[in-house]
Amino acid sequence: MNNFNDPRLAVRIGDISLKNPVIMCSGTFASGIEYNEIYETQIIGAVTTKSFSLKPMEGNKPPRLCETSSGLLNSIGLQNEGIDYFIKEQLPLVKKLKINTILSILGVSSSEFAEIASKIIKIEHELIAVELNLSCPNIKKGGITLGSVPDSVEEVTSVVRKTLNIPVVVKLSPNNDNLAEMAKRAKSGGATCVSLVNTLIGMAIDINTFKPRLGNIIGGLSGPAIKPVALAKIYSLYKANILPIIGMGGISGWQDAVEFMLAGASAVGLGTVNFVEYDAAVNVINGLIDFISRKNLNNISDLTGKLKAGQ
Ligand SMILES: Cc1cc2nc3c(=O)[nH]c(=O)nc-3n(C[C@H](O)[C@H](O)[C@H](O)COP(=O)(O)O)c2cc1C
Repeated sequence: MNNFNDPRLAVRIGDISLKNPVIMCSGTFASGIEYNEIYETQIIGAVTTKSFSLKPMEGNKPPRLCETSSGLLNSIGLQNEGIDYFIKEQLPLVKKLKINTILSILGVSSSEFAEIASKIIKIEHELIAVELNLSCPNIKKGGITLGSVPDSVEEVTSVVRKTLNIPVVVKLSPNNDNLAEMAKRAKSGGATCVSLVNTLIGMAIDINTFKPRLGNIIGGLSGPAIKPVALAKIYSLYKANILPIIGMGGISGWQDAVEFMLAGASAVGLGTVNFVEYDAAVNVINGLIDFISRKNLNNISDLTGKLKAGQ
């Protein structure tokens, strides 16, 4: 077993410092508390919580999950217990377990984001960063509807930035053709970095019943099926040189994590793989330590953006 505190794994993503580049994606690892019964979740660089809204949300009607070839469609619709629940019920446990937490939040307008942020002021010192979900495809208001409008991206980022002192991460959607513009506006609003990709819009149909497989008809596709798309989006945005990137989308092992870093990611997110391999983070961290040893690298961040030209 490797030393999980190996200093060669330490990374900086803007003004966020992590002991390793492995981050759990929002909505796929809850707040890390339950997984701690299986392994010490404090070894993970950071756990991004499920997105929390101002008030509890029930989510979409079932079925809300459907497996596809090499992928997963979900239309959860951001079911969550609300930000007060996170602060009162989950944060004390998260603190006790020393889980490095990025708190994901979601609002339907900049004023709602501001209201959520004002509730976070008193606990911000317990968090590594706050992530703004401006990319969920499964809701009618907020999410991607805000994240597709450059002015909204800047405004939401800026109100949260002005309210809180901790780093702000803006989560972007692959369904958006203008990622560079959104990243620029996130930067103008004061974001420290962007995270991408959220899920790709998709659907599936049951040919026996002629009905959609998801209650919401349309959902978000994740898992290995989206990896090449995610990689290309991250590569393009890295070349645009706007903000550091947390890269995610179909990572299922350490080799994928290396690919994402070579394409330009400063850190990587594990999402759907958590439903397949409960200790994926342990295996990815272990694999990365072995890889940098074999390659004689001083630090894992030496990989970021090191894609070579040609074949
Ligand atoms: C079941 C499920 C729930 C998700 N919930 C959220 C969420 O609450 N907030 C968010 O920003 N992203 C959410 N996502 C998107 C993931 O965080 C991630 O961006 C996406 O799944 C791509 O990574 P992956 O292919 O490794 O899963 C969710 C994804 C899945 C599969």
